[in-house]
Amino acid sequence: MRVLTYGTFDLFHIGHLRLLERLRALGDHLTVAVSTDEFNALKGKTSLVPYADRAALVAACRWVDAVIPEDTWGQKRDDVVRLGIDVFGMGGDWEGHFDALRDVCQVVYLPRTDGISSTAIKDRLKVFDTESLQSLKSAIETAQQVLARLA
Ligand code: CTP
Repeated sequence: MRVLTYGTFDLFHIGHLRLLERLRALGDHLTVAVSTDEFNALKGKTSLVPYADRAALVAACRWVDAVIPEDTWGQKRDDVVRLGIDVFGMGGDWEGHFDALRDVCQVVYLPRTDGISSTAIKDRLKVFDTESLQSLKSAIETAQQVLARLA
């Protein structure tokens, strides 16, 4: 059974790993389509890690047999047919979105791993942004001025 999934996989994390492990267990060959930087830009998304590195990290995962680029919204049906895919699988955040592919393969949505996402990691890293540090500095200066007036 051949399995196919799609995603950005920025800052590869345990939620990605667990999804790929469970998808691979549904068959004996897993292809992962990794969104290119250009496609992410079209979606209004920016990844911290560039496509070549995200693709290399996904390819190095022991549950992954092949990586292809995802560069258009419309390629999924062609990929399923061209690659002889039996199961199309995504995390639960995509529930229902790809049911139209059921005429060419099985479509499954697996529960996401709780408590982690690329966005959450990026939000945590923001505390180290020059911009965030600058606003923290301004807040401290304001607090110091208020305290000085009270003293
Ligand atoms: N995924 C998952 N569990 C998580 C995070 C992601 O199962 N905790 C799955 C998604 O459902 C998707 C795949 O991993 O099928 C790739 O998701 P991606 O959007 O690249 O990862 P996210 O961490 O959700 O990234 P973002 O916060 O940018 O949406």
